Amino acid sequence: MELEQIKNEIKNRLSEKRFYHSICVMEKCEELATKYGVNVDDAKKIGISHDIAKELTDKEKIKYCENNNIIIDEIEKKNISLLHAKIGADMVKKLFNFNDAMCMAIRTHTTGLPRMDMLSKVLFIADRISKDRNIPDIDFINDLLEEDIDKAILYILDSKIKLQIKKQANIHINTIITRNYLLEGE
Ligand SMILES: [Fe+2]
Ligand SMILES: [Fe+2]
Repeated sequence: MELEQIKNEIKNRLSEKRFYHSICVMEKCEELATKYGVNVDDAKKIGISHDIAKELTDKEKIKYCENNNIIIDEIEKKNISLLHAKIGADMVKKLFNFNDAMCMAIRTHTTGLPRMDMLSKVLFIADRISKDRNIPDIDFINDLLEEDIDKAILYILDSKIKLQIKKQANIHINTIITRNYLLEGE
């Protein structure tokens, strides 16, 4: 499906605020895809649609998983919101016919996963540093991106883990194993 059609479809499914976030992630995906030599069109499409399932209610998310044979793990059971990644990956396959790499990027955009390909890395980072987020450490992350994209991912994983600790909340196992994987790679 063409980008413009996808954009319309997403606009109908999200609040104004989340649609704006999606536009900002799309723009950041375009920038990073150009920088790291991945398919810009694919990157823009996953950027705009990565949170397609985010505004389903908890009930709707569980129902979607049941109806589409998506397995809910122990941590997702306690934090239903996490499921928007898995559900989103399934939806974009069925609605927009995204390829496997694009679906995988959406599937891993919240927690990360060891051995992510460059398209997945681009989305993972774009979702954290899109301009709507106004993060205070943007300059530092941009410096890391100049040095090595994996260093930026490691830093973002650390920030996510620290935030979860502060909130006394669960940390998804994929976040931990992605961090371990990147540490070993250094
Ligand atoms: Fe998300
Ligand atoms: Fe997002």
